[in-house]
Amino acid sequence: MPLLAIETTCDETAAAVVTRGREVLASIVASQERLHAKWRGVVPEIASRAHVERIIPVIDEAVRRAGITPHGIEAVAVAVTPGLVGSLLVGLSAAKGIAATLRVPIVGYDHVAAHLYACRLAHGEAVRYPCIGLVASGGHTSLFLVRGPLELERLGGTIDDAAGEAFDKAAAILGLGYPGGPEIERAAREGDAASHRLPRPLRADRERFDMSFSGLKTALRYLVRPPGAPADTPAPTGRPRADLAAAFQQAVVDSILAKVELAVVKTGCRTVAVGGGVAANTLLRESLADLGRRLGVAVLMPPMALCTDNAAMGAIAWERLERGEDDGLDLDIRPGTDRAWR
Ligand code: KG4
Ligand code: ZN
Repeated sequence: MPLLAIETTCDETAAAVVTRGREVLASIVASQERLHAKWRGVVPEIASRAHVERIIPVIDEAVRRAGITPHGIEAVAVAVTPGLVGSLLVGLSAAKGIAATLRVPIVGYDHVAAHLYACRLAHGEAVRYPCIGLVASGGHTSLFLVRGPLELERLGGTIDDAAGEAFDKAAAILGLGYPGGPEIERAAREGDAASHRLPRPLRADRERFDMSFSGLKTALRYLVRPPGAPADTPAPTGRPRADLAAAFQQAVVDSILAKVELAVVKTGCRTVAVGGGVAANTLLRESLADLGRRLGVAVLMPPMALCTDNAAMGAIAWERLERGEDDGLDLDIRPGTDRAWR
């Protein structure tokens, strides 16, 4: 019998039904993008209210599309860390209600580890452990030494903004919409990445796996509106905007790539697993694939739909259920990143 996975860490309300054999019978994602677009970023209070409205219809739809009844659910899985407090609580409450009613086990899972597990869902045993894990999303940009689906050791990552967050803020600076990643990617197609010199902080540091994106964002901001320029300076349009978008995207990709290469060289891992919303970026995907060919390592990326937030990646909970684990109804959320709970 399958498990029901619930995901409400940020601004997507998602539910999925996944069999023990890791077959995804249904995966429903209700995006809140339109609700947050006006603010060009996620507003936590709006997110939690929207989760409350959507969570039951989304779960109903997942169960219906899976062709089962609620009594066909063997266990409930829910993302409990990291995320927005109010958002996480909605998913947890729904999960507990269902687990208690059906009298089935409930297990919490780590959203970031689940982003990497999306690779396992897509590529199966080709994800050989230990591997390097890269998670680049709106909330996280980290490199891990991954010894198993649940065994992640953080090597480094951003010391300020996440890559997706930088894309979102850069899009706002350029007068583009939210979420910023796809908007920048679209604008960049008409632009020249070599048109501007933007910083790649920490790229040359061969001792650390850390990255930084906030200075890059500020550099873009000053190109658009130099210090001292009037506050109502209009955002660029047309070709100038496309050039800035292309230069920005290239700088983010270069920064990430340098540290992935460093991680491969220093650890000797032969596989790189990638996940998170920014992994939907075509330039990043192509550049990572090139890097893999150059270094002779397998770089595995999930299909686009499994990169951005979804509940199918909650299949990672099977790894805990198969060990006989059950968190019971005392399960709680951990909004901050805390990898000790496993
Ligand atoms: O994984 P995700 O859906 O949510 C978090 O866990 O944060 O990632 C969302 C982030 C947003 O910042 C969005 O701008 C970025 O992923 N993103 C992209 C692309 N598609 C989504 N960034 C760059 N290029 C894309 N094509
Ligand atoms: Zn995510």
